[in-house]
Amino acid sequence: MTASLIDGALISRHLLESLRPRLAALAVRGIKPGLAAILVGENPASEVYVRNKTRACSDLGLKSEVHRLNADCAEAELLGLVQRLNVEPSIHGVLLQLPLPPHLDADGITRKIVASKDVDGFSWENLGALVAGRPQLAPCTALGVMAMIDHEAIPLEGANAVVVGRSVAVGKPTALMLISRGATVTVCTSKTRDLARHTREADIVVVAVGKPATVTGEMLKPGAVVFDVGINRLPDGKITGDVDFASASLVASRITPVPGGVGRMTVAALIENTVRAAETLSVVV
Ligand code: GUN
Repeated sequence: MTASLIDGALISRHLLESLRPRLAALAVRGIKPGLAAILVGENPASEVYVRNKTRACSDLGLKSEVHRLNADCAEAELLGLVQRLNVEPSIHGVLLQLPLPPHLDADGITRKIVASKDVDGFSWENLGALVAGRPQLAPCTALGVMAMIDHEAIPLEGANAVVVGRSVAVGKPTALMLISRGATVTVCTSKTRDLARHTREADIVVVAVGKPATVTGEMLKPGAVVFDVGINRLPDGKITGDVDFASASLVASRITPVPGGVGRMTVAALIENTVRAAETLSVVV
């Protein structure tokens, strides 16, 4: 079997286009959603991610701004910026691009972003809402995977899903969303003994550990649907995912490519979260 591609470029465009009526409804009320990204230091990958996010904003007519701080900035300076953005009325989403330089407490500072503007969905309030089955602003990559599942009309009720990875950003929220939609979910990690024993039972496999070839074709059930969340740079500069695409695509029925797969969806989900935040923050009571 040769898998068909789940096209992140196409599906993310659909998702972004579907936001236009909501943007128009906000515009009638004089509201233009605004996203503020904070970049600390000069991490080349972070530069690319932030550029993609701000470009998606301008393509759709959202306001976006990037705040750059030096790699050796004091924590107080960063916290001051977060606090200013928390109360800035023209900004509805605040995103602290990770990773931060090691002298800064990434978790602690991330949690200073007010939950109503936490478009990454990393605050305890937003993560708690997700655990409770009442998601508000949820983590973008997990939302992106779910949007692909829905676009492809992949049945979830009763399906066996394996999530490889337990990060707060991807693994855990994806598992929670799959559970809430009726899938039977197994969460594996890089430490799981005999990973293949689990993945071979799965109708849906989501891989997010940050290591190339974590899942290969021989570890898959024929016909499985595979979501590759990894973005790894090889020594030759090429980008590859966490799944061995060549072997996996011979066994899976559908698979996301890297690049051009889940990464595109993360950006689209971030834009949707920013629109959602603008709608919620502007509710008149
Ligand atoms: N660094 C890599 N991915 C992400 C993300 O989704 N959000 C933030 N804030 N930083 C990241």
